[in-house]
Amino acid sequence: MKGVKFKENTMLVSQTDVTGKIIYANVDFCKTSGYSFGELVGQSHNIIRHEDMPRVIFKLLWKKLQNGKSIYAFVKNKSKDGGHYWVKAFITPIIKNGKIDRYVSYRTFIDNDSSMKSVSKLYSIFYEYEKNHTVNESFEYFLKYLEERNLSYEDLIIRITLGKQISNKVTLSIDFRSYFDDHIIFRTHIIHQVQLKSKNIKVTKSCCCRFGKWLESVKNEGYTNCSEWKNILVAHDDVHKKLQQYVDDSNKGVSELHLQGLITSTEKDRDIIFDTLEYIVDKYEE
Ligand SMILES: Cc1cc2nc3c(=O)[nH]c(=O)nc-3n(C[C@H](O)[C@H](O)[C@H](O)COP(=O)(O)O)c2cc1C
Repeated sequence: MKGVKFKENTMLVSQTDVTGKIIYANVDFCKTSGYSFGELVGQSHNIIRHEDMPRVIFKLLWKKLQNGKSIYAFVKNKSKDGGHYWVKAFITPIIKNGKIDRYVSYRTFIDNDSSMKSVSKLYSIFYEYEKNHTVNESFEYFLKYLEERNLSYEDLIIRITLGKQISNKVTLSIDFRSYFDDHIIFRTHIIHQVQLKSKNIKVTKSCCCRFGKWLESVKNEGYTNCSEWKNILVAHDDVHKKLQQYVDDSNKGVSELHLQGLITSTEKDRDIIFDTLEYIVDKYEE
């Protein structure tokens, strides 16, 4: 689908009544949308809605406006001939005698390729999500998306405007391969000691291994707020606990099968830890 071209500094202005019916559109708005003033006035503003837009953005927009607040939003609009144009809109209520009288939107063209790319990518996530979820579920998902990245909606708008990646302010970058190796070496060492029937085998507590210390050192970083982080903490704790149990049970002379089961289980925990870390690193370094 072709994009509609319009000049830099063009301001597309429209106004609606409190129900969202267009009551005013400036010349540039009419030209860009392809509709005449007469065709626009009285119509619902969704006349220029593009089907690629996720519903969650309009839900947020109306929620803000009805609470008397203004909002910035990136919007892909559809022109009469089927073309589209991306704008950054500032939409605000006009208050008269203490009551919302109407709404007005001022739009400028997005002239930055990386902004366009990041907003398209972001919106496609929610567009896809909305194929099998309600708009309320999408709204919750949107809030969670922001929370996991430690961003407010306003931060998100700023990052898109500046053409920055939509990720946490602190990027997660660790050499987790070396922690993975640590755990393999550690486990092999414990098994070896057990086989040698060594006395007083010491299983380091999860807080005291190198990885445990690293987890403690990053606990205030934004990326640890994501829902997957606690899976890492739990699985890491389990690895150490199960190894301790392996030592204790082998001292009691339990079956080989049971001991092997414990070791297999620590391998599963280890996979959870490092697969999750890999997933989080990807997410924050997107
Ligand atoms: C002042 C104002 C300007 C708006 N501008 C646009 C716009 O440019 N494009 C758009 O799709 N929706 C815009 N909307 C939101 C629409 O009213 C509508 O909520 C949206 O198109 C989604 O359609 P729907 O509510 O029928 O699902 C605007 C709303 C207001 C109050």
